[in-house]
Parts: sequence; C-alpha cells; structure tokens
Amino acid sequence: MITVVLGTQWGDEGKGKVIDYLAEDVDIVARYQGGANAGHTVVVNGRQFIFHLVPSGILYPDKVCVIGNGVVIDPVSFLEEVSYLKDNGIDVEGRLFVAENAHITLPYHKLLDQIEDRFRGKGSLGTTGRGIGTTYADKFNRVGIRAVDFLDDDIFRNKLDIALELKNYLFREYYKEKMLNKDKIYEEYKEAREGMKGMVRNTSLYLHDEVEKGRHVLAEGAQGTFLDIDFGTYPYVTASNSISGGACTGLGVSPKKISRIIGVVKAYTTRVGMGPFPTELDGEEGDNLRKTGNEYGATTGRPRRCGWFDSVLVKFACMVNGIDELVMTKLDVLSGQEKIKIGVAYEFGGEIHNDYTFNSKVFSNCSVVYEEMVGWCDDIGRVKEYRHLPANAKKYIERIEQLIEVPISKISVGSSREQTISK
Ligand code: IMP
Repeated sequence: MITVVLGTQWGDEGKGKVIDYLAEDVDIVARYQGGANAGHTVVVNGRQFIFHLVPSGILYPDKVCVIGNGVVIDPVSFLEEVSYLKDNGIDVEGRLFVAENAHITLPYHKLLDQIEDRFRGKGSLGTTGRGIGTTYADKFNRVGIRAVDFLDDDIFRNKLDIALELKNYLFREYYKEKMLNKDKIYEEYKEAREGMKGMVRNTSLYLHDEVEKGRHVLAEGAQGTFLDIDFGTYPYVTASNSISGGACTGLGVSPKKISRIIGVVKAYTTRVGMGPFPTELDGEEGDNLRKTGNEYGATTGRPRRCGWFDSVLVKFACMVNGIDELVMTKLDVLSGQEKIKIGVAYEFGGEIHNDYTFNSKVFSNCSVVYEEMVGWCDDIGRVKEYRHLPANAKKYIERIEQLIEVPISKISVGSSREQTISK
C-alpha cells in the first residue's frame, strides 16, 4: 500500500514535520521529485534537523528511506547529509537507497542555474541556485548522468565528456564564463562516487517487492502543487511534477498501488522566490506573519513572502491531486490576529473567477475577494484535543473545510511531534 503526502500551496507547508509524524506508521519513506532545493525541518526532542535530500523518515531507526528516480541528486549535498546524520548517531547503513535511474547534479548544473537566472533579468525566477532546472533539462535533453552511470568509471567519463562539450561551449561563447575541466570534476567526485556505491539500486523493483509483501510506503513530494512544472504558476515554478501523479513516475510505482493521498496545508500562505501571489500581504501585516511564523527558507535562508489563506488555490490543489484529507500546519501562528481573512475568489476586469486560472494576466493582476473572520488570542501551542481549541479557531478551520470540500484531519500547533491535534 502506498500513501502519498504532498504540499498544496507553494511549498514550505511544513511537510517535514507531517511526514515525520506519519512515518511512525509506515515501513518505507520514499521521496519522488525535487532535489537539494527542498528543505524539510523536523524537531525531535528539542533537536532540529534540516533535510534537503534524505527523507525525514530516516530519524526512525527501523524505517527504510528511498530517494526515487524523479529526484535529482547532488552527491555533495547528499553525502554531507549522510555524514551529518552519522555524526548525530543516526545509522543509515542498509536503510537508505538511491534510485539507479535518478539524475545527478554536477557543478556545471549549479553554475548554469545561477547564470541563467541572472540572464533572465527582469524575468528572473529566483531559483534556489542548486542546479535543479538545469539537471532536469539535461535529463530531458538526454545528456543527463544517472546514478548508475555516475558509479561506472567508463560511462561516467564518456557522459561527462559529452555534457561538458555542450556546457563549455555555452560558458565560453555565450555567457563569457570560465570553462570547466572534465578531469578536475572526475577527480573531485571520486570520493562521492565511492560514498554512494552501496546505496544505489533499482528502487522501483525494491518498492514493488515490498508493496507486494504488504509493506506500507509513504511517498513524499517536495515543493508544493503551485510549484509543479505543469500545474503551477508557470514559469515561476520548479522543474518537476510535485503533484501526486509525480509519485508514480518519480518512484516507478503503479497508480493502482496508491491508496491514500494526504495534502499538507499551511493555515496561511507563503511563497519564496518570484511569481504572482494574489493574497500576499505587503508591509507590516506580512512582516508580522513572517516574524511570528519564522518564515525564512530552510535551504536559502531567504525571507518568505506571506499572505492570507487562499481557498481558490487549495481547492484546485485538492482536485488535481485527489486529496483525501488535509493536515493543517502552523495554526498557532495566527493566534493574536484580530481579524483573519480567507481569499475565496479573484476579480479581474469586472469578472469574478471562482477557480484557479492558468491565465497569467488574470492571476498576476487580479484582486482577491475575501471573507473576514474574527481571530483568537489564546496561545494554542499546548492544546492536545480539537474540542479545546478556541471557538474562533474551530470556526476558521471548519469554514476552510466547507470552501475546499476536503476534511482537515490533523492540525499542527507547533514544531514538535507532540504538537499535533487529531480532529
Ligand atoms: P528551483 O527549484 O531552484 O529551480 O526554483 C524555482 C522556484 O521554486 C523558486 O521560486 C524557488 O524559490 C522555489 N522553490 C524551490 N524549492 C522550494 C521549496 O522547497 N520550498 C519553496 N519554494 C521552493
């Protein structure tokens, strides 16, 4: 059986904590897309862990973690994470696997990502600069290097040759940058190739066999629905399919094996990087949410843009992902707000839009139709049962459920595992 967990907004919904919470009841946690652009923060017994590539399920000593073929892997970042885990007493031996057919991010991907985003000028996407889009571009351009190729001496050298021929031409002729040296990269990555050797395998076969044996797999998406390459706010998106469908192509599992889809939704909205954001709050209101919610990127440290909950977006996310239930995070951050708003529709050119639209003219320039609700002042960080939440907090949750037509089954009111309420 496979359960998929993913973000329903622009990422940073708090999936790390939710996955960590859900991981207790599964056997395997498998990541299906994204790369070292993601940042999952988990707090266990007062200790904070930030993961970029390794699924946060690794914190449970009996869980197996898989990095699927849909993920792009920066070996340096990956092995740093592995040694950080080892230094913290977490043994990954025999329980952390990387897909043979996952693509590898190399120095030229990162360099090109940063240069390209600079050259976009006014159209800059504000990428994380981790070489994500450029690694996926090479994959689709069929000049990528997969983990299985990376480990094979001859294949790696050959593929590096072909890839660098193209990249160095771009660096030299177009971007007027220094060229990269193939032998230097080859030497620099010797240790990383050695380090990854025991972990690379056919994870599609492995997952298939484990599911057949009755094991429960939690498939985790990184980023969020509106950063999805097809369904997000293109071009201000990441370069992979973060929606639930991505779990099948990013892990090599059959859609028939997926039995549950859980969405993670923040009690308000945030976004990092460029792109339209209808319910964004400028000025003091946005600053206050950022401060209270500690809204700074776990990967780049960039301040996140903050705004009100947008039910139009989340409703679409529930539809496109087929979400069965939602986990709402960071409700505690809204405590102390006198009035809380929910975006319920967009208005553009005198027309009301009740649905999310791919028309960037509308989505970038619309004004938002809001419903206003009365807030609550109590500190809710210690509340353990739904019925003990302030009445106005319950009204807020229940109104959102009505608007998006999907139940909210759990509510997180703080960063630790224990601060999770079942509804
Ligand atoms: P890229 O994924 O580095 O190519 O960046 C593309 C866009 O996705 C940028 O706006 C990033 O800020 C955003 N992005 C990428 N990963 C994350 C994430 O994990 N959380 C939130 N935003 C992200």
